[in-house]
Amino acid sequence: MKIIGPCTELLTMAGLSTHGAIEDAQLELLSNAGVVVDKEMITDVGPYDTVRKKWKDAELEEIEDHLVLIPGLIDAHTHSCYAGSRANDFARRIAGMTYQEIAQAGGGIWQTVQATRKASVNELNQLTEDRIRQKLASGITTLEIKSGYGLSLESEIKILECIKAVAATSTIDIVSTCLAAHLLPGDFKGNKNQYLSFIRNELLPVIKEKRLSNRVDIFIEREAFHPVEAGKFLRQAKSMDFDLVVHADQFSVGGSEVAAACKALSADHLEVSTRREIQCLIKANVICTALPGASIGLGCSFAPARMILDEGGCLVIASDHNPGSAPHGDLLTLAAIIATYEKLRTAEVFAAMTFRAALALNMTDRGRIIPGFKADFIGFKTKDFRDILYNQGNLRPYYVWKNGVKVLPDGNLK
Ligand code: NIG
Ligand code: FE
Repeated sequence: MKIIGPCTELLTMAGLSTHGAIEDAQLELLSNAGVVVDKEMITDVGPYDTVRKKWKDAELEEIEDHLVLIPGLIDAHTHSCYAGSRANDFARRIAGMTYQEIAQAGGGIWQTVQATRKASVNELNQLTEDRIRQKLASGITTLEIKSGYGLSLESEIKILECIKAVAATSTIDIVSTCLAAHLLPGDFKGNKNQYLSFIRNELLPVIKEKRLSNRVDIFIEREAFHPVEAGKFLRQAKSMDFDLVVHADQFSVGGSEVAAACKALSADHLEVSTRREIQCLIKANVICTALPGASIGLGCSFAPARMILDEGGCLVIASDHNPGSAPHGDLLTLAAIIATYEKLRTAEVFAAMTFRAALALNMTDRGRIIPGFKADFIGFKTKDFRDILYNQGNLRPYYVWKNGVKVLPDGNLK
């Protein structure tokens, strides 16, 4: 058992609702605080002097500088397992071509599929490990990674096995999702319905058997999969006990209605969702995930995050890190940016990257600094918690604790 502190400020996120708007005044902000950790869990939190008196035998992990401690960040939507670059796509986009036009011209997702299929297992593992290390340095202690750049039995399995292998040795927790339904691959002999049947009948059983993932995602869009065929596919995946997530309403509406009808865990993107779509998701208790990295990467509007909160929804913010639409990938920066456009309060932004983001991964054991939760936290060398968003990503976490162990700085990172 040990006590970490004293922390100039400690943001517990205790007592905040999983849904709806949050006032900053509702934040529990402890001054000169300590957190008591036993193995990987939090045992107690409170004023430093009080916890020291109460837990006399605990070791002390003393902090000498000013420090603001908050829960470790959770990035609940990424595509960080891929090879190759899409700098050529980006250059064409800022010169005026649209994402869809580039895809139709043979670029886009298909370009990354070809590079990822070609990469050796070692290369892909290395690339993914390097990206995970970067995520950890930016304060992420739980990370979701999707497949979706394989789009064949062999390559989708290769990617999911890569994610499983790096997860086994990674410092942070990794959750994988099967996104084989990302696009109809150019070399598939058959139509979209036949491709989805192939995923359902051939790929998902192997994923189950090898325990590679328990989550299934689909990209619902004109260029990807139609709402009707997607709905059928998602219901089949649900009957196989997969949790469902949906890439919905990125360029056109339709996906969120399917997500609601299939009781998906989350609907992600929502850039073009109107109040109607948002209300439909909230009524079905579907988490709404905004992906500001895709809005910035493509120069599109942001998901209506303010509206999601005001309508009573559970808003999550994730990076969507991928080589095409969202190359930036730094969650804290992206969250600080969407906050300025959508007028999100500090409390709402932190909730969207911590305990609410955990819910999008079906986890209820992390994202708050309270007894019984995982001892995952990050520390910033500053006196005022508001500095974190104010610096728009430029104030990096100095310390990261994962499962109660200080892994940054000087940790043995994987
Ligand atoms: O979430 N929208 C679909 N999928 C990814 C982009 C993938 C890519 O362009 O490589 C996204 O934005
Ligand atoms: Fe995505």
